[in-house]
Amino acid sequence: MRNKITIVGAGFVGATATHWIAEKEIGDIVLIDIIEGMPQGKSLDLVEASPIKGFDTRVLGTNNYDDTANSDVVVITAGIPRKPGMSREDLLNTNAKIMRSVVQEIAPRSPDAILIVVSNPLDAMVYLAKEVSGFPKSRVMGMAGVLDSARMRAFIAMELNVSVENTHAFVLGGHGDEMVPLPRYSTVAGIPITELMNQEQIDRIVQRTRKGGGEIVGLLKTGSAFYAPGAAVSQMVEAILKDKKQILPCAAYLEGEYGLDGIYFGVPVKLGRSGIEQVVEITLTDEENEALNRSAQAVRNTIETLQSLQG
Ligand code: NAI
Ligand code: 2OP
Repeated sequence: MRNKITIVGAGFVGATATHWIAEKEIGDIVLIDIIEGMPQGKSLDLVEASPIKGFDTRVLGTNNYDDTANSDVVVITAGIPRKPGMSREDLLNTNAKIMRSVVQEIAPRSPDAILIVVSNPLDAMVYLAKEVSGFPKSRVMGMAGVLDSARMRAFIAMELNVSVENTHAFVLGGHGDEMVPLPRYSTVAGIPITELMNQEQIDRIVQRTRKGGGEIVGLLKTGSAFYAPGAAVSQMVEAILKDKKQILPCAAYLEGEYGLDGIYFGVPVKLGRSGIEQVVEITLTDEENEALNRSAQAVRNTIETLQSLQG
């Protein structure tokens, strides 16, 4: 039985995630968007690349939610991206309406699916997806930490002139400028970067990671990042569908872990065929805890704004 993956939103992130997932033959893909012809065109183009690249993934482009029925994993990228000068929170009102309507279409047709939310503001959108779907917390998660950690890994590799494969990084917290990169848990070949760099280098990498999304928006001017976000999605989908039990930072619904309750927040989780199989708790210093609490407050503020918009 082949896995079925639906990607909602065939824009930059959705199409790029489809590309990475198709090449890895993780499952067959349905790519859906409201724009007529666009998901069909991108899917056909990708299928026409498959003889060259050698993958047998089926990719169906559609505007009809019935084609998404009985998906194993649904990735939601539908929504508007940031433009220069906009924060992720500026997207709240528009994307909340889109998220609600998408989940109302998806949930009844794929009641056993695992939802991966990508649309921003991430921590509020994934909260809304859980509320609207009524799915258990293990099957609703957000993509952000894998992306933010990959950015930090890339910056560490550039700074030390080492292979990205030697790097490991942990970025916790909300997907906003208050996110919490953790240098103590970030390593090169197992060696903490705190032993390989001076404080000025570490501070520079931490700041660049926090502003990583904005840096790309500032360069692109018409939208936000998509290669690294698409790759991050594909890593999460693969971990789930191959039941890898991989520990990855994801936005998970917390009920007491890290002293936080009732919010989605970026923490290390074990990803497997049932979705989030465990939230992994790590010991933090007082300073790290303070940073985490500041980030949690920013997430709570966005959720309060979301709730006030919904009346
Ligand atoms: P995009 O504008 O290229 O694509 C969004 C697509 O969603 C468009 O094709 C649009 O037609 C579609 N769409 C809108 N309403 C829809 C609906 N009701 N049903 C189906 N499709 C619908 O934007 P891009 O760059 O792909 O970004 C998508 C979202 O992902 C944005 O909100 C962006 O901020 C967010 N994002 C989040 C990241 C993260 O780390 N969590 C990283 C990168 C982007
Ligand atoms: C990013 O971090 C815009 O959230 C998106 O690139």
